[in-house]
Amino acid sequence: MRILLLGSSGLLGHDCKEVLGNAYEVIAPNREELDIINWDVVIEKMQKVSPDIVLNCAAFTDVDACEKEHFKVRKVNLEGPRNLAQGSARFNCKVVHISSDYVFDGKKSLPQPYFEDDSMEPLSAYGRSKYESEVAVKENAPDYIIVRSGWLYGIKGKDFIKSILNKTLGKKRKTLRVVADQYASPTWSYRLATQIKELIERDAKGTYHATAEGYCTPYELSQYVFKKLNLNISLEPIGLTDYKQLAKRPHNCILENRLLKKQGLNVMVDWKEDVDAFLDEFGKDLVKEARRGKK
Ligand SMILES: NC(=O)c1ccc[n+]([C@@H]2O[C@H](COP(=O)([O-])OP(=O)(O)OC[C@H]3O[C@@H](n4cnc5c(N)ncnc54)[C@H](OP(=O)(O)O)[C@@H]3O)[C@@H](O)[C@H]2O)c1
Repeated sequence: MRILLLGSSGLLGHDCKEVLGNAYEVIAPNREELDIINWDVVIEKMQKVSPDIVLNCAAFTDVDACEKEHFKVRKVNLEGPRNLAQGSARFNCKVVHISSDYVFDGKKSLPQPYFEDDSMEPLSAYGRSKYESEVAVKENAPDYIIVRSGWLYGIKGKDFIKSILNKTLGKKRKTLRVVADQYASPTWSYRLATQIKELIERDAKGTYHATAEGYCTPYELSQYVFKKLNLNISLEPIGLTDYKQLAKRPHNCILENRLLKKQGLNVMVDWKEDVDAFLDEFGKDLVKEARRGKK
């Protein structure tokens, strides 16, 4: 099987390259080599590579910047996936596209989770662009998998775990204010990459939720991480609306992996199990990097 992977320099793409690259031929051009907003380049590459699968981990993911950069968010998050989907129709291959919990408004009463067929009512420009990307993929790709996930962390790129280490150890601070009224499932990008591999191997079709099992708040995750790493940081709980950010965020980001479970495809595990595994493997290095002030 030959896989054309976009976004391999990012958080999820990096792990997909590793997990899928161990089993299949993975061609992973960087943004300079293949900019997904450029139709001609997309088509030329697809013709040359003749992939069985196009896996799109590329996106404009800075949720606050999306509120201001309307042109860019439309190009990268909507027109890019549409190009890939139309290309897949032309070259007869499958598209695997990654979407987000931010397609929902998060107003469901807690702790009720969102299901794959719940109506999408995004609160932010980023969420709207991910919703539109889903529509573009569904309308244009004859064979597709859409994987909705959320709150990713991993060894590559920016994430919440590195951010709290940098804000404390990196700045020699002993206290941290953290949101305590937003609920989601911290999901390890490596686990999600394994789930994507399973979906591809089982020739799945349609839209799937794929997040870790269980849920917590950013406050609870921070507590868990600092305790696991034996770091003495005191936390102050704050509300989502106290934390000044440009984009509105949903309060309830809990997704149920209903279809994965129904079809016997679920490889996702409890969030604590994966945070433990991740920190056992990378925790010491992350602490060292944060202390050195490395982002
Ligand atoms: N991170 C999360 O918590 C989260 C949650 C839910 C869903 N998701 C979704 O998961 C997917 C992966 O997210 P991520 O966090 O791994 O993203 P990321 O770390 O920000 O990486 C984004 C990747 O996209 C590439 N890219 C951006 N614009 C491009 C373009 N025009 N053409 C080709 N490549 C381009 C970037 O390349 P450069 O390095 O060259 O810029 C980078 O490799 C996205 O669809 C995102 O919406 C993420």
